[in-house]
Amino acid sequence: MSDSPKRYTVTAALIYANGPIHIGHLAGCYLPADVYVRYLRAKGKDVAFISGTDEHGVPITIKAKKEGISPQELVDAYHKQIKQSFADFGIGFDIYSQTSKPKHHKVSQDFFKKLYADGHFLEEETEQLYDEVAGQFLADRYVVGECPKCGNENAYGDQCERCGSALSPMELKNPKSTLSGSSPVKKRTKNWYLPLDKMQPEIEKYVFSHPEWKSNVAGQCKSWLNDGLKPRAMTRDLDWGIKVPVEGADGKVLYVWFDAPIGYITFTQEWAEREGKDWKDYWQNEETKLVHFIGKDNIVFHCIIFPAMLMAHGDYVLADNVPANEFMNLEGDKISTSRNWAVWLHEYLEEFPGKEDVLRYALASNAPETKDSEFTWKDWQSKNNSELVGILGNFVNRTLVLTHKYFEGEIPACVTLEKIDEDTLAQLAQLPCDISKALKNFKFREALALTMDVARLGNKYLADTEPWKVIKNNPDRVKTILNISAQITATLAIVCEPFLPFTSEKINGMLGLDKREWMHAGKADALEAGQQIGEATLLFEKIEDEIVEKQVNKLLDTKKKNELENLKAPALKEEIVFDDFMKLDLRVGTILEAEPVKKSKKLLKFLIDDGFEKRTILSGIAQHYSPEEMIGKQVTFVANLAPRKMMGHLSQGMILMAENNDGTLALVQPDKKVWNGGTVS
Ligand code: 2FM
Ligand code: ZN
Repeated sequence: MSDSPKRYTVTAALIYANGPIHIGHLAGCYLPADVYVRYLRAKGKDVAFISGTDEHGVPITIKAKKEGISPQELVDAYHKQIKQSFADFGIGFDIYSQTSKPKHHKVSQDFFKKLYADGHFLEEETEQLYDEVAGQFLADRYVVGECPKCGNENAYGDQCERCGSALSPMELKNPKSTLSGSSPVKKRTKNWYLPLDKMQPEIEKYVFSHPEWKSNVAGQCKSWLNDGLKPRAMTRDLDWGIKVPVEGADGKVLYVWFDAPIGYITFTQEWAEREGKDWKDYWQNEETKLVHFIGKDNIVFHCIIFPAMLMAHGDYVLADNVPANEFMNLEGDKISTSRNWAVWLHEYLEEFPGKEDVLRYALASNAPETKDSEFTWKDWQSKNNSELVGILGNFVNRTLVLTHKYFEGEIPACVTLEKIDEDTLAQLAQLPCDISKALKNFKFREALALTMDVARLGNKYLADTEPWKVIKNNPDRVKTILNISAQITATLAIVCEPFLPFTSEKINGMLGLDKREWMHAGKADALEAGQQIGEATLLFEKIEDEIVEKQVNKLLDTKKKNELENLKAPALKEEIVFDDFMKLDLRVGTILEAEPVKKSKKLLKFLIDDGFEKRTILSGIAQHYSPEEMIGKQVTFVANLAPRKMMGHLSQGMILMAENNDGTLALVQPDKKVWNGGTVS
């Protein structure tokens, strides 16, 4: 692929429409995709930025069943929410569509029919797992069991989330149906397979022709190829999905990983129809560069299986690059939808309106480009306070305020250039080239650091030239200084746009500029002298500690809730015989008096009517019951426990309590009134 292709087709993974978007999705896939596309657009490139929701497959039906709604209702609701969150976060897709639309069914079926007609499929009857209780075959995530590669006991039928291996349900040890919990049986069924084994040489040639791919991507591909590719079923025995368009396929649908990537093609067609373009230019033209942005769990599907489908079809270009990221963790733990351990985009947008760029910055500067990374609220705060407020905001604000103060808001012209000016302008011209190079090579963290270097350059220039001191004796010198500062500001608006589009728009607004193309960055024409600028408003505001504490506490609450939910009842004690139990004399009594015990936070002292006389019992329940509420209650107690001295009082027995999973105590009481002294057995 030439260094300057005629056009770009950039795709971002079609996320399953079974839950909202979280920061892990953004950092792994959507933010880098958006940064890349914004950069290409600023360079004046022809780009189609395609995405949408993946609405078939078992993850959808499982969630719909759980929520008691139809799969279509589920995907429509999540599609709407996800699309809105992306738009509000500034992810600028050209189209964001749905795979459940009739058009996509047709495009996928036509694709399948072509492969079928050309004899690419292997039609095979094999044994598959079948749930006799639910009366259906168990594809993909309808089965969990032990991963044959790493031993993870909760691996899915299609993938092990611990070691990343792609699996088939039959490979799992001790499989269990997620529908009924039963152990499935094997039953014969017919399916259509893509013979990846036969295609291995072609696929290898393709993968190895891209030595520039990121090492995490190349590594996963090599491991698959080393293991030897196997035929992979492209159909499933399920009822939710796209019907297999050939005879003898009743009750079967296309494998979700067959139809989902074709979604990129369908959506490009939808977009091209709307825009009056020819979709084929974006998929079937050698001068088009196809780039897939995905998270690491999607690598094999985009680097091996989808290319194999496209090769078999024959009319399509293959991805030139698949810059997959690793995962982002959150506050020391893996992000997890089921455990609600996430920062949800829609919640963030609601809680922090106007701070979209702060999150974009925190995620991009810490993106999991080469290894897993971590988001913490503290880091989000510090990136905002020290970098966005302290470096970028500070420089832009000083430039605008000084221009208003000394020149009534009119950008002055340069008078005479000194060495420091020439050096600064030379660096200003170089930085956009370095940023470009990093962006082209998918090195987004580096590109962002270089972008901030533009603001750093500006701050250093102002600190070194000190216009606030020079103004008294040499206003002409200040004209030059503020002209150059304004050029730096205008350049910043251009180069920060891919990462911080809202901020870029604000800077342009203050400078009275329309959005500018990349070619102006660092050049003398970034901004014309004589331009009247607008009011200087702050780009970012300081984030206080309380805001961070609130978010961290929210996560701590989630952690506590999860721990309680996962807590198992304490292990059983050693077995005893009936006679051991009969030694205990358990009775019912009524509390007559109750009072706290001096110097003890835990103990209450009770006087109990035990049916014979009155006895004193001390019990460690002061943190769970007040003395007043205990009076008149019936309790059960051990009546023949040897008396014990506690805090100077003799306790003649023990009141029975049940302990909850959060450590709280509850009285064990008869559920009807019982005479005092009544035995318990
Ligand atoms: O992992 C996922 O959420 C998949 N739905 C991604 C599919 S990407 C593409 F192939 F459509
Ligand atoms: Zn595994």
